Amino acid sequence: MDYLPITVQMQGRRCLIVGGGEVAARKLKHLLKAQSQVVMLSPCFSTEVKEIALKHADSVALIGETFVPEIIKDFYLVVAATDDKFVNRQVSIAAQKQNIWVNVVDDLELSTFIMPAVIDRSPLLIAVSSSGISPVLARKIREKIEWLLPRNLGSLLERLKDLRPKIKARFERFQDKRRFSEWFIESAINDDSVVSGSTESLFDSYQQRYSRTGKVYLVGAGPGAAELLTVKALKILQKADVVLYDALVSEEILDCIRRDATLIFVGKRSSKHFVAQEKTNQLLVDEAQKGLNVVRLKGGDPMIFGRGGEELEYLTRHQVAYEVVPGITAASGCASYSGIPLTHRNYSQSIHFVTAYEKDEGDRVDWQALAKANQTLVFYMGLAKGTKISNKLIANGLSESTTVAVIEKGTTSEQRVILSRLGELPSAVSTQNIQAPALIIVGEVTALATQLHWFNSGELVDARLQYAQVANSAM
Ligand SMILES: C[S@@+](CC[C@H](N)C(=O)[O-])C[C@H]1O[C@@H](n2cnc3c(N)ncnc32)[C@H](O)[C@@H]1O
Repeated sequence: MDYLPITVQMQGRRCLIVGGGEVAARKLKHLLKAQSQVVMLSPCFSTEVKEIALKHADSVALIGETFVPEIIKDFYLVVAATDDKFVNRQVSIAAQKQNIWVNVVDDLELSTFIMPAVIDRSPLLIAVSSSGISPVLARKIREKIEWLLPRNLGSLLERLKDLRPKIKARFERFQDKRRFSEWFIESAINDDSVVSGSTESLFDSYQQRYSRTGKVYLVGAGPGAAELLTVKALKILQKADVVLYDALVSEEILDCIRRDATLIFVGKRSSKHFVAQEKTNQLLVDEAQKGLNVVRLKGGDPMIFGRGGEELEYLTRHQVAYEVVPGITAASGCASYSGIPLTHRNYSQSIHFVTAYEKDEGDRVDWQALAKANQTLVFYMGLAKGTKISNKLIANGLSESTTVAVIEKGTTSEQRVILSRLGELPSAVSTQNIQAPALIIVGEVTALATQLHWFNSGELVDARLQYAQVANSAM
Protein backbone atom coordinates (compact mmCIF):
# COMPACT_ATOMS: atom_id res chain seq x y z
CA MET A 1 0.00 0.00 0.00
CA ASP A 2 1.61 3.26 -1.09
CA TYR A 3 -0.96 5.50 0.63
CA LEU A 4 -2.81 5.27 3.92
CA PRO A 5 -6.51 6.08 3.57
CA ILE A 6 -7.57 8.21 6.54
CA THR A 7 -10.45 10.64 7.10
CA VAL A 8 -9.37 13.97 8.54
CA GLN A 9 -11.51 16.29 10.63
CA MET A 10 -11.32 19.61 8.73
CA GLN A 11 -13.94 21.69 10.48
CA GLY A 12 -12.57 25.24 10.99
CA ARG A 13 -9.07 24.31 9.78
CA ARG A 14 -7.22 26.97 7.76
CA CYS A 15 -6.32 25.81 4.26
CA LEU A 16 -4.59 27.56 1.41
CA ILE A 17 -5.37 27.10 -2.28
CA VAL A 18 -2.89 28.66 -4.66
CA GLY A 19 -4.72 29.26 -7.94
CA GLY A 20 -7.96 30.88 -8.99
CA GLY A 21 -9.30 28.94 -12.01
CA GLU A 22 -11.57 25.98 -12.66
CA VAL A 23 -9.47 23.34 -10.86
CA ALA A 24 -8.96 25.61 -7.87
CA ALA A 25 -12.75 26.13 -7.74
CA ARG A 26 -13.24 22.35 -7.60
CA LYS A 27 -10.81 22.00 -4.70
CA LEU A 28 -12.46 24.95 -2.96
CA LYS A 29 -15.84 23.18 -3.14
CA HIS A 30 -14.37 19.99 -1.60
CA LEU A 31 -12.76 21.90 1.26
CA LEU A 32 -15.92 23.89 1.94
CA LYS A 33 -17.97 20.67 2.08
CA ALA A 34 -15.67 19.58 4.90
CA GLN A 35 -16.27 22.98 6.59
CA SER A 36 -12.71 24.28 6.28
CA GLN A 37 -11.66 27.93 6.32
CA VAL A 38 -10.07 28.60 2.94
CA VAL A 39 -7.65 31.30 1.79
CA MET A 40 -7.24 31.52 -2.00
CA LEU A 41 -4.22 33.16 -3.52
CA SER A 42 -4.00 34.16 -7.17
CA PRO A 43 -3.41 37.34 -9.22
CA CYS A 44 -6.92 36.80 -10.67
CA PHE A 45 -9.98 34.66 -9.93
CA SER A 46 -12.60 33.08 -12.18
CA THR A 47 -16.22 34.22 -11.92
CA GLU A 48 -17.10 30.86 -10.35
CA VAL A 49 -14.52 31.30 -7.59
CA LYS A 50 -15.74 34.83 -6.91
CA GLU A 51 -19.36 33.65 -6.71
CA ILE A 52 -18.51 30.85 -4.28
CA ALA A 53 -16.44 33.24 -2.15
CA LEU A 54 -19.36 35.67 -2.02
CA LYS A 55 -21.77 32.94 -1.01
CA HIS A 56 -19.42 31.63 1.71
CA ALA A 57 -17.99 34.96 2.82
CA ASP A 58 -17.47 33.62 6.37
CA SER A 59 -15.31 30.74 5.19
CA VAL A 60 -13.45 32.00 2.09
CA ALA A 61 -10.91 34.84 1.75
CA LEU A 62 -9.52 35.82 -1.66
CA ILE A 63 -6.05 37.37 -1.87
CA GLY A 64 -5.28 38.83 -5.32
CA GLU A 65 -1.50 38.42 -5.25
CA THR A 66 1.18 36.20 -6.74
CA PHE A 67 2.63 33.41 -4.62
CA VAL A 68 5.60 34.00 -2.31
CA PRO A 69 6.83 31.19 0.00
CA GLU A 70 6.43 33.43 3.09
CA ILE A 71 2.65 33.26 2.79
CA ILE A 72 2.69 29.62 3.91
CA LYS A 73 2.32 30.03 7.62
CA ASP A 74 -0.15 28.43 10.03
CA PHE A 75 -2.03 26.49 7.37
CA TYR A 76 -3.27 22.95 8.05
CA LEU A 77 -2.97 21.95 4.43
CA VAL A 78 -2.11 23.52 1.11
CA VAL A 79 -3.29 22.87 -2.44
CA ALA A 80 -1.40 24.08 -5.51
CA ALA A 81 -3.82 24.38 -8.43
CA THR A 82 -2.15 26.78 -10.86
CA ASP A 83 -1.20 25.95 -14.45
CA ASP A 84 2.34 27.18 -13.80
CA LYS A 85 4.63 24.22 -12.95
CA PHE A 86 7.26 26.51 -11.44
CA VAL A 87 4.79 28.08 -9.01
CA ASN A 88 3.36 24.66 -8.12
CA ARG A 89 6.86 23.41 -7.31
CA GLN A 90 7.57 26.47 -5.14
CA VAL A 91 4.33 25.89 -3.22
CA SER A 92 5.21 22.23 -2.65
CA ILE A 93 8.74 22.98 -1.44
CA ALA A 94 7.57 25.75 0.90
CA ALA A 95 4.81 23.59 2.41
CA GLN A 96 7.01 20.53 2.87
CA LYS A 97 9.66 22.66 4.62
CA GLN A 98 7.09 23.35 7.31
CA ASN A 99 5.69 19.82 7.37
CA ILE A 100 2.37 21.02 6.01
CA TRP A 101 0.43 18.55 3.88
CA VAL A 102 0.43 19.62 0.26
CA ASN A 103 -1.42 18.47 -2.83
CA VAL A 104 -0.25 19.60 -6.23
CA VAL A 105 -2.92 18.97 -8.81
CA ASP A 106 -1.86 16.32 -11.34
CA ASP A 107 1.61 15.97 -9.84
CA LEU A 108 2.13 12.95 -7.61
CA GLU A 109 5.81 13.65 -6.98
CA LEU A 110 5.19 17.08 -5.56
CA SER A 111 2.22 15.97 -3.45
CA THR A 112 2.35 14.56 0.06
CA PHE A 113 -1.36 13.72 -0.01
CA ILE A 114 -3.92 13.03 -2.73
CA MET A 115 -7.68 13.33 -2.73
CA PRO A 116 -9.75 10.23 -3.49
CA ALA A 117 -13.02 10.09 -5.43
CA VAL A 118 -15.74 10.35 -2.77
CA ILE A 119 -19.29 9.08 -2.41
CA ASP A 120 -20.80 11.43 0.10
CA ARG A 121 -23.77 10.12 2.08
CA SER A 122 -22.67 11.98 5.19
CA PRO A 123 -21.97 10.89 7.77
CA LEU A 124 -21.16 7.90 5.58
CA LEU A 125 -18.21 8.50 3.26
CA ILE A 126 -16.83 6.09 0.70
CA ALA A 127 -13.50 7.04 -0.78
CA VAL A 128 -11.94 5.38 -3.83
CA SER A 129 -8.27 5.94 -4.51
CA SER A 130 -6.10 4.64 -7.34
CA SER A 131 -2.99 5.86 -5.46
CA GLY A 132 -2.99 8.75 -7.91
CA ILE A 133 -2.30 6.47 -10.88
CA SER A 134 -5.66 6.93 -12.55
CA PRO A 135 -8.18 9.35 -11.04
CA VAL A 136 -10.39 8.51 -14.04
CA LEU A 137 -10.53 4.84 -13.00
CA ALA A 138 -11.25 5.85 -9.39
CA ARG A 139 -14.13 8.03 -10.63
CA LYS A 140 -15.51 5.17 -12.77
CA ILE A 141 -15.43 2.85 -9.75
CA ARG A 142 -17.15 5.54 -7.68
CA GLU A 143 -19.91 5.78 -10.31
CA LYS A 144 -20.42 2.02 -10.23
CA ILE A 145 -20.59 1.90 -6.42
CA GLU A 146 -22.81 4.98 -6.29
CA TRP A 147 -25.31 3.24 -8.53
CA LEU A 148 -25.46 0.19 -6.26
CA LEU A 149 -25.95 2.08 -3.00
CA PRO A 150 -29.31 2.94 -1.50
CA ARG A 151 -30.10 6.67 -1.22
CA ASN A 152 -30.93 6.68 2.50
CA LEU A 153 -27.53 5.54 3.78
CA GLY A 154 -26.82 8.86 5.52
CA SER A 155 -30.01 8.87 7.60
CA LEU A 156 -29.60 5.15 8.24
CA LEU A 157 -26.15 5.70 9.69
CA GLU A 158 -27.40 8.61 11.85
CA ARG A 159 -30.07 6.28 13.23
CA LEU A 160 -27.53 3.56 13.91
CA LYS A 161 -25.48 6.07 15.90
CA ASP A 162 -28.53 6.74 18.03
CA LEU A 163 -29.38 3.02 18.34
CA ARG A 164 -25.90 1.87 19.28
CA PRO A 165 -26.06 2.29 23.08
CA LYS A 166 -29.59 0.85 23.09
CA ILE A 167 -28.47 -2.26 21.17
CA LYS A 168 -25.61 -2.63 23.63
CA ALA A 169 -27.98 -2.47 26.59
CA ARG A 170 -30.54 -4.80 25.03
CA PHE A 171 -28.35 -7.70 23.83
CA GLU A 172 -25.64 -9.51 25.72
CA ARG A 173 -24.05 -11.72 23.10
CA PHE A 174 -21.91 -10.14 20.42
CA GLN A 175 -23.62 -12.31 17.78
CA ASP A 176 -27.08 -11.08 18.82
CA LYS A 177 -25.95 -7.46 18.63
CA ARG A 178 -24.56 -8.00 15.19
CA ARG A 179 -27.57 -9.92 13.99
CA PHE A 180 -29.91 -7.14 15.13
CA SER A 181 -27.76 -4.54 13.36
CA GLU A 182 -27.81 -6.65 10.20
CA TRP A 183 -31.56 -7.07 10.38
CA PHE A 184 -32.04 -3.33 10.98
CA ILE A 185 -29.76 -2.31 8.10
CA GLU A 186 -31.33 -4.75 5.65
CA SER A 187 -34.86 -3.70 6.60
CA ALA A 188 -34.03 0.02 6.62
CA ILE A 189 -32.38 -0.09 3.21
CA ASN A 190 -35.65 -1.28 1.71
CA ASP A 191 -38.00 0.75 3.85
CA ASP A 192 -37.47 4.36 5.03
CA SER A 193 -40.14 4.00 7.71
CA VAL A 194 -37.87 1.52 9.55
CA VAL A 195 -35.25 4.27 9.90
CA SER A 196 -37.75 6.53 11.64
CA GLY A 197 -39.53 3.79 13.68
CA SER A 198 -39.40 3.96 17.50
CA THR A 199 -36.70 1.91 19.23
CA GLU A 200 -39.23 -0.33 21.02
CA SER A 201 -41.14 -1.08 17.80
CA LEU A 202 -37.85 -2.00 16.14
CA PHE A 203 -36.94 -4.46 18.90
CA ASP A 204 -40.45 -5.95 18.74
CA SER A 205 -40.35 -6.48 14.96
CA TYR A 206 -36.93 -8.04 15.27
CA GLN A 207 -38.05 -10.39 18.02
CA GLN A 208 -41.02 -11.53 15.95
CA ARG A 209 -38.84 -12.11 12.92
CA TYR A 210 -36.15 -14.20 14.60
CA SER A 211 -36.14 -17.14 16.89
CA ARG A 212 -32.82 -18.25 18.36
CA THR A 213 -32.27 -20.90 15.69
CA GLY A 214 -30.00 -19.84 12.88
CA LYS A 215 -30.42 -20.53 9.23
CA VAL A 216 -28.49 -22.39 6.57
CA TYR A 217 -27.92 -20.77 3.20
CA LEU A 218 -27.10 -23.25 0.48
CA VAL A 219 -25.21 -21.00 -1.91
CA GLY A 220 -23.88 -21.61 -5.40
CA ALA A 221 -20.45 -20.07 -5.92
CA GLY A 222 -20.54 -20.43 -9.70
CA PRO A 223 -17.79 -22.00 -11.78
CA GLY A 224 -14.82 -20.02 -10.48
CA ALA A 225 -14.63 -16.34 -11.42
CA ALA A 226 -15.80 -14.19 -8.47
CA GLU A 227 -17.64 -11.80 -10.78
CA LEU A 228 -19.97 -14.69 -11.68
CA LEU A 229 -21.33 -14.83 -8.12
CA THR A 230 -24.92 -13.63 -7.91
CA VAL A 231 -25.63 -10.39 -6.04
CA LYS A 232 -27.64 -12.39 -3.49
CA ALA A 233 -24.78 -14.85 -2.94
CA LEU A 234 -22.40 -11.94 -2.31
CA LYS A 235 -24.81 -10.36 0.19
CA ILE A 236 -25.12 -13.64 2.09
CA LEU A 237 -21.36 -14.20 2.15
CA GLN A 238 -21.01 -10.73 3.67
CA LYS A 239 -23.22 -11.60 6.64
CA ALA A 240 -22.10 -15.20 7.22
CA ASP A 241 -20.98 -16.37 10.66
CA VAL A 242 -19.75 -19.78 9.45
CA VAL A 243 -18.97 -20.96 5.93
CA LEU A 244 -18.57 -24.63 5.01
CA TYR A 245 -16.96 -24.75 1.59
CA ASP A 246 -15.84 -27.25 -1.05
CA ALA A 247 -12.59 -27.70 -2.94
CA LEU A 248 -14.13 -26.20 -6.09
CA VAL A 249 -14.70 -22.81 -4.43
CA SER A 250 -11.93 -20.51 -5.67
CA GLU A 251 -9.67 -18.35 -3.47
CA GLU A 252 -11.09 -15.32 -5.24
CA ILE A 253 -14.55 -16.21 -3.95
CA LEU A 254 -13.34 -17.05 -0.43
CA ASP A 255 -11.97 -13.49 -0.37
CA CYS A 256 -15.54 -12.18 -0.67
CA ILE A 257 -16.56 -13.70 2.69
CA ARG A 258 -16.97 -11.48 5.75
CA ARG A 259 -13.54 -11.19 7.36
CA ASP A 260 -14.41 -12.58 10.78
CA ALA A 261 -16.53 -15.51 9.59
CA THR A 262 -15.28 -19.00 10.49
CA LEU A 263 -14.28 -20.98 7.39
CA ILE A 264 -14.56 -24.77 7.46
CA PHE A 265 -13.23 -26.82 4.57
CA VAL A 266 -15.45 -29.84 3.93
CA GLY A 267 -14.20 -30.81 0.48
CA LYS A 268 -11.95 -33.45 -0.91
CA ARG A 269 -8.17 -32.88 -0.93
CA SER A 270 -7.34 -36.31 -2.33
CA SER A 271 -9.04 -39.68 -2.71
CA LYS A 272 -8.07 -40.41 0.93
CA HIS A 273 -8.67 -37.06 2.61
CA PHE A 274 -12.24 -35.92 2.51
CA VAL A 275 -14.96 -35.01 4.95
CA ALA A 276 -17.76 -37.59 5.00
CA GLN A 277 -21.14 -36.26 3.84
CA GLU A 278 -22.76 -37.27 7.16
CA LYS A 279 -20.25 -35.15 9.06
CA THR A 280 -20.96 -32.13 6.84
CA ASN A 281 -24.71 -32.58 7.33
CA GLN A 282 -24.31 -32.70 11.10
CA LEU A 283 -22.00 -29.67 11.15
CA LEU A 284 -24.64 -27.65 9.31
CA VAL A 285 -27.25 -28.56 11.91
CA ASP A 286 -24.91 -27.95 14.87
CA GLU A 287 -23.81 -24.51 13.68
CA ALA A 288 -27.37 -23.41 12.83
CA GLN A 289 -28.57 -24.54 16.27
CA LYS A 290 -26.08 -22.12 17.83
CA GLY A 291 -28.21 -19.37 16.26
CA LEU A 292 -25.70 -18.56 13.51
CA ASN A 293 -25.93 -17.62 9.84
CA VAL A 294 -24.43 -20.71 8.24
CA VAL A 295 -23.43 -20.74 4.59
CA ARG A 296 -22.92 -23.99 2.72
CA LEU A 297 -20.89 -22.78 -0.25
CA LYS A 298 -20.60 -25.07 -3.25
CA GLY A 299 -19.03 -24.72 -6.67
CA GLY A 300 -21.44 -24.05 -9.55
CA ASP A 301 -25.08 -24.56 -8.66
CA PRO A 302 -25.70 -26.38 -5.37
CA MET A 303 -28.60 -28.37 -6.81
CA ILE A 304 -26.67 -29.76 -9.79
CA PHE A 305 -24.38 -32.67 -8.95
CA GLY A 306 -23.69 -30.96 -5.64
CA ARG A 307 -25.54 -33.13 -3.12
CA GLY A 308 -27.64 -30.06 -2.31
CA GLY A 309 -30.74 -32.22 -2.17
CA GLU A 310 -29.24 -34.59 0.41
CA GLU A 311 -28.21 -31.72 2.67
CA LEU A 312 -31.63 -30.09 2.48
CA GLU A 313 -33.30 -33.41 3.35
CA TYR A 314 -31.11 -33.62 6.46
CA LEU A 315 -31.88 -30.02 7.46
CA THR A 316 -35.61 -30.63 7.01
CA ARG A 317 -35.41 -33.70 9.25
CA HIS A 318 -33.73 -31.57 11.93
CA GLN A 319 -36.12 -28.65 11.47
CA VAL A 320 -33.43 -26.16 10.49
CA ALA A 321 -34.60 -23.28 8.27
CA TYR A 322 -32.79 -22.84 4.97
CA GLU A 323 -32.63 -20.84 1.75
CA VAL A 324 -31.11 -21.89 -1.55
CA VAL A 325 -29.20 -19.42 -3.72
CA PRO A 326 -28.65 -20.77 -7.23
CA GLY A 327 -25.28 -20.39 -8.88
CA ILE A 328 -24.07 -20.54 -12.46
CA THR A 329 -23.49 -24.20 -13.12
CA ALA A 330 -20.26 -25.33 -14.81
CA ALA A 331 -22.16 -26.21 -18.01
CA SER A 332 -23.41 -22.64 -18.49
CA GLY A 333 -20.23 -20.97 -17.30
CA CYS A 334 -17.81 -23.13 -19.29
CA ALA A 335 -19.94 -23.13 -22.45
CA SER A 336 -20.44 -19.36 -22.44
CA TYR A 337 -16.77 -18.67 -21.72
CA SER A 338 -15.75 -21.00 -24.57
CA GLY A 339 -18.12 -19.59 -27.18
CA ILE A 340 -20.22 -22.78 -27.24
CA PRO A 341 -23.98 -22.25 -27.45
CA LEU A 342 -25.46 -25.25 -25.62
CA THR A 343 -28.44 -25.16 -27.95
CA HIS A 344 -28.54 -23.93 -31.54
CA ARG A 345 -31.47 -24.10 -33.93
CA ASN A 346 -29.33 -25.79 -36.59
CA TYR A 347 -27.48 -28.34 -34.47
CA SER A 348 -29.01 -29.09 -31.08
CA GLN A 349 -32.54 -29.11 -29.74
CA SER A 350 -31.89 -30.43 -26.23
CA ILE A 351 -29.20 -30.66 -23.55
CA HIS A 352 -28.37 -33.49 -21.15
CA PHE A 353 -26.37 -32.84 -17.99
CA VAL A 354 -24.78 -36.20 -17.15
CA THR A 355 -22.57 -37.29 -14.29
CA ALA A 356 -19.82 -39.63 -15.36
CA TYR A 357 -19.30 -40.58 -11.73
CA GLU A 358 -21.83 -42.82 -10.05
CA LYS A 359 -22.54 -43.48 -6.38
CA ASP A 360 -22.17 -47.26 -6.68
CA GLU A 361 -20.62 -49.29 -9.45
CA GLY A 362 -23.86 -49.94 -11.41
CA ASP A 363 -24.26 -48.03 -14.67
CA ARG A 364 -27.59 -46.22 -14.60
CA VAL A 365 -26.85 -43.90 -17.50
CA ASP A 366 -29.09 -44.46 -20.51
CA TRP A 367 -26.32 -44.44 -23.17
CA GLN A 368 -28.75 -45.31 -25.94
CA ALA A 369 -30.81 -42.17 -25.26
CA LEU A 370 -27.63 -40.08 -25.13
CA ALA A 371 -26.16 -41.41 -28.39
CA LYS A 372 -28.52 -39.44 -30.60
CA ALA A 373 -27.91 -36.63 -33.05
CA ASN A 374 -29.15 -33.04 -32.57
CA GLN A 375 -28.49 -32.82 -28.87
CA THR A 376 -25.75 -31.60 -26.57
CA LEU A 377 -24.31 -33.79 -23.81
CA VAL A 378 -22.50 -32.20 -20.89
CA PHE A 379 -20.47 -34.59 -18.73
CA TYR A 380 -19.56 -33.48 -15.22
CA MET A 381 -16.77 -35.31 -13.34
CA GLY A 382 -15.82 -37.04 -16.57
CA LEU A 383 -12.08 -36.39 -16.80
CA ALA A 384 -11.11 -39.89 -15.68
CA LYS A 385 -13.95 -41.44 -17.67
CA GLY A 386 -13.06 -40.26 -21.19
CA THR A 387 -12.60 -43.82 -22.49
CA LYS A 388 -15.91 -45.01 -21.08
CA ILE A 389 -17.80 -41.96 -22.45
CA SER A 390 -16.24 -42.36 -25.87
CA ASN A 391 -16.74 -46.16 -26.09
CA LYS A 392 -20.32 -46.16 -24.79
CA LEU A 393 -21.52 -43.37 -27.09
CA ILE A 394 -19.85 -44.87 -30.17
CA ALA A 395 -21.13 -48.37 -29.33
CA ASN A 396 -24.64 -46.94 -29.13
CA GLY A 397 -24.40 -45.31 -32.54
CA LEU A 398 -22.98 -41.79 -32.13
CA SER A 399 -20.43 -40.99 -34.84
CA GLU A 400 -16.83 -41.14 -33.69
CA SER A 401 -16.18 -37.92 -35.62
CA THR A 402 -18.66 -35.95 -33.41
CA THR A 403 -16.87 -32.86 -32.13
CA VAL A 404 -16.11 -32.80 -28.39
CA ALA A 405 -14.86 -29.92 -26.24
CA VAL A 406 -13.04 -30.43 -22.96
CA ILE A 407 -12.96 -27.27 -20.87
CA GLU A 408 -10.37 -27.13 -18.14
CA LYS A 409 -10.79 -24.65 -15.23
CA GLY A 410 -13.56 -22.88 -17.11
CA THR A 411 -14.19 -19.13 -16.57
CA THR A 412 -10.90 -18.68 -14.67
CA SER A 413 -7.74 -17.05 -16.02
CA GLU A 414 -6.35 -20.59 -16.49
CA GLN A 415 -9.18 -21.75 -18.74
CA ARG A 416 -8.23 -24.03 -21.67
CA VAL A 417 -10.59 -25.34 -24.30
CA ILE A 418 -9.52 -28.47 -26.20
CA LEU A 419 -11.52 -29.52 -29.22
CA SER A 420 -11.26 -33.11 -30.39
CA ARG A 421 -13.43 -35.89 -31.88
CA LEU A 422 -15.40 -38.42 -29.86
CA GLY A 423 -13.12 -41.26 -31.07
CA GLU A 424 -10.07 -39.31 -29.89
CA LEU A 425 -11.37 -38.04 -26.57
CA PRO A 426 -9.20 -40.26 -24.28
CA SER A 427 -5.99 -39.45 -26.14
CA ALA A 428 -6.84 -35.72 -26.25
CA VAL A 429 -7.27 -35.75 -22.45
CA SER A 430 -3.90 -37.42 -21.89
CA THR A 431 -1.80 -35.73 -24.61
CA GLN A 432 -3.06 -32.29 -23.60
CA ASN A 433 -2.51 -33.19 -19.94
CA ILE A 434 -5.91 -31.81 -18.93
CA GLN A 435 -6.33 -31.22 -15.20
CA ALA A 436 -9.43 -31.07 -12.98
CA PRO A 437 -11.88 -29.49 -12.83
CA ALA A 438 -12.83 -30.17 -16.41
CA LEU A 439 -16.09 -30.46 -18.25
CA ILE A 440 -16.73 -32.52 -21.37
CA ILE A 441 -19.24 -31.28 -23.91
CA VAL A 442 -20.22 -33.59 -26.76
CA GLY A 443 -22.14 -32.37 -29.79
CA GLU A 444 -21.86 -30.39 -33.00
CA VAL A 445 -22.37 -27.06 -31.17
CA THR A 446 -18.85 -27.43 -29.75
CA ALA A 447 -17.34 -26.84 -33.22
CA LEU A 448 -18.68 -23.27 -33.05
CA ALA A 449 -16.04 -22.49 -30.42
CA THR A 450 -13.51 -21.91 -33.23
CA GLN A 451 -15.60 -18.93 -34.45
CA LEU A 452 -17.24 -17.76 -31.23
CA HIS A 453 -14.44 -18.19 -28.69
CA TRP A 454 -13.89 -14.83 -26.95
CA PHE A 455 -12.37 -15.43 -23.52
CA ASN A 456 -8.63 -16.05 -23.14
CA SER A 457 -8.59 -16.40 -26.91
CA GLY A 458 -5.09 -17.92 -27.01
CA GLU A 459 -6.23 -20.94 -25.03
CA LEU A 460 -8.28 -22.76 -27.66
CA VAL A 461 -6.52 -25.91 -28.86
CA ASP A 462 -8.11 -27.48 -31.93
CA ALA A 463 -6.85 -31.06 -31.65
CA ARG A 464 -9.32 -32.11 -34.36
CA LEU A 465 -6.73 -31.08 -36.95
CA GLN A 466 -4.27 -33.58 -35.49
CA TYR A 467 -6.98 -36.22 -35.63
CA ALA A 468 -7.71 -35.42 -39.28
CA GLN A 469 -3.99 -35.61 -40.12
CA VAL A 470 -3.59 -38.99 -38.41
CA ALA A 471 -6.72 -40.30 -40.14
CA ASN A 472 -5.51 -39.09 -43.58
CA SER A 473 -2.01 -40.52 -43.20
CA ALA A 474 -3.50 -43.91 -42.26
CA MET A 475 -5.39 -44.03 -45.57
C1 LIG B 1 -19.14 -32.30 -8.04
S1 LIG B 1 -19.43 -31.55 -9.58
C2 LIG B 1 -20.11 -30.04 -9.05
C3 LIG B 1 -20.88 -29.33 -10.10
C4 LIG B 1 -21.39 -28.00 -9.64
N1 LIG B 1 -22.38 -28.14 -8.61
C5 LIG B 1 -21.95 -27.18 -10.80
O1 LIG B 1 -23.16 -26.90 -10.83
O2 LIG B 1 -21.17 -26.79 -11.65
C6 LIG B 1 -17.81 -31.13 -10.08
C7 LIG B 1 -17.61 -31.13 -11.57
O3 LIG B 1 -18.09 -29.93 -12.13
C8 LIG B 1 -17.30 -29.59 -13.24
N2 LIG B 1 -16.74 -28.24 -12.99
C9 LIG B 1 -16.97 -27.45 -11.95
N3 LIG B 1 -16.33 -26.27 -12.09
C10 LIG B 1 -15.68 -26.34 -13.25
C11 LIG B 1 -14.84 -25.43 -13.96
N4 LIG B 1 -14.54 -24.23 -13.50
N5 LIG B 1 -14.32 -25.83 -15.15
C12 LIG B 1 -14.62 -27.05 -15.65
N6 LIG B 1 -15.40 -27.93 -15.03
C13 LIG B 1 -15.93 -27.59 -13.85
C14 LIG B 1 -16.22 -30.63 -13.37
O4 LIG B 1 -16.68 -31.59 -14.28
C15 LIG B 1 -16.16 -31.18 -11.98
O5 LIG B 1 -15.68 -32.50 -11.97
